[in-house]
Amino acid sequence: ANKLVLSVIVLGASGDLAKKKTFPALFTLFKKGFLPKNLRIIGYARSKLSDEDLREKIKGYLKGTDAEIKEFLSRISYIPGSYDGDEGFQSLQTSLETREKGHESSPIGRLFYLALPPTVYPQVCAGIKRNCTEMGSDAEGSWLRLVVEKPFGMDLESSEELADKLGALFPEDQLYRIDHYLGKELMQNMLVLRFANQFLSPTWHRNFISNVQICFKEPFGTDGRGGYFDEFGIIRDVMQNHLIQVLALLAMEQPVTLSADDIRDEKVKVLRCVSPVKLDDTVLGQYTAGGDQRGYLEDETVPKDSKTPTFATCVMNINNERWSGVPWIMKAGKALNERKVEIRVQYKSPASGIHPNLNEMRNELVMRLQPDEAIYMKIVVKEPGLEMHPTVSEMDLSYKQRYQGADIPDAYERLILDAIRGDQQHFVRRDELRAAWAAFTPLLHAIDAGEVTPQPYPAGSRGPPASDVLVSRAGFVKNTEY
Ligand code: BG6
Repeated sequence: ANKLVLSVIVLGASGDLAKKKTFPALFTLFKKGFLPKNLRIIGYARSKLSDEDLREKIKGYLKGTDAEIKEFLSRISYIPGSYDGDEGFQSLQTSLETREKGHESSPIGRLFYLALPPTVYPQVCAGIKRNCTEMGSDAEGSWLRLVVEKPFGMDLESSEELADKLGALFPEDQLYRIDHYLGKELMQNMLVLRFANQFLSPTWHRNFISNVQICFKEPFGTDGRGGYFDEFGIIRDVMQNHLIQVLALLAMEQPVTLSADDIRDEKVKVLRCVSPVKLDDTVLGQYTAGGDQRGYLEDETVPKDSKTPTFATCVMNINNERWSGVPWIMKAGKALNERKVEIRVQYKSPASGIHPNLNEMRNELVMRLQPDEAIYMKIVVKEPGLEMHPTVSEMDLSYKQRYQGADIPDAYERLILDAIRGDQQHFVRRDELRAAWAAFTPLLHAIDAGEVTPQPYPAGSRGPPASDVLVSRAGFVKNTEY
């Protein structure tokens, strides 16, 4: 890989995603020595910037020594160009060709990172296809790949339309659909945790598990991003992609091997068994002013009469032999009381009459994705002492304690490295995306048609109380009171 002549082209280079995620992730990989020596990063966007302007814009987002930052920035240049037409892409091609010249016997890699709104993907991909696919070498190991990021459409139909357009230009093995949740440490641990622990795998089944909860909470609202958010809402923003990916990894069968396609085959299979979410199994919310936060409708980038949900709880069902009858509860919200993403697998109550409290106590496996990665198991034990008092206690694997000082890479860092290495395991295949949309599209259409008004909840709260009612109706028992 060290011989690789690598160009990373960041399209939309002056946008938020590029500044906050793409460049910093590239920087960290560079700093840690994961990128080939022969590296060039080209920023591309419509604004007329100089190389130096772009460097200034991203500098503040890089964390490292002055020398590291300087060295990294010296690899970055900028080309202005539009997203339609050929002219800009031709200058890009000229610059890439010049750079690749003289390396005819080395493998060449071109990674196009589209940090852009998906509406321009088709024209941008067409521009790249027409102008930028001739490479200075066809030595073995040369490649051209494109990284694209959600939102992929608004529903099943528009997503398929987009996928058709991109698919007509580039084959699936050149398209890397990023879902950064798949790059998070705990998500990467899922296969090992599930399939290497004999006390878990046999009980991972409707016979033992009462319900599963996947919960995403953010303490801040949409301030400043209201324009984007209002068009999509919380279900399209995090559930249809990030949280359903979590569901897929939790619920799928064991893949035949760890190859990208074997894993994604299993994910698709289980996603196709998810029944479309019903309005009756959904609670929607929208935050109002609370604490020092403004209400959603007070954000000037949001239409005053918006009914877009900033909170949703959905109870989902997976119709297969393993999961039939087990409610999968998904909860996601903005402007809530805390920042936390966690999974709770709640086992059934023991059928034991030896102590009345036992019927209410349950084993629970909790996986906290953030903050502070942790896996812990709630187990029922006797409280120490002379009395016979069963209680719920914890077997706790906190990463901070157990893996002190370990490097937990940022999701983007890992995924960009995967893309450079050509590993698609943690990228979303087209059929996965289709199945994920199919599960939410009827519900989204009902919401879009105004069939439901989200319930207000104050910013900084736990969300609308109706959500708790739905969650307990789905069988979740709160354990912590004992
Ligand atoms: C993004 C959503 O995909 O994920 C944001 O568009 C959300 O609205 C973000 O805040 C959450 O990512 P993370 O890694 O901070 O949990």
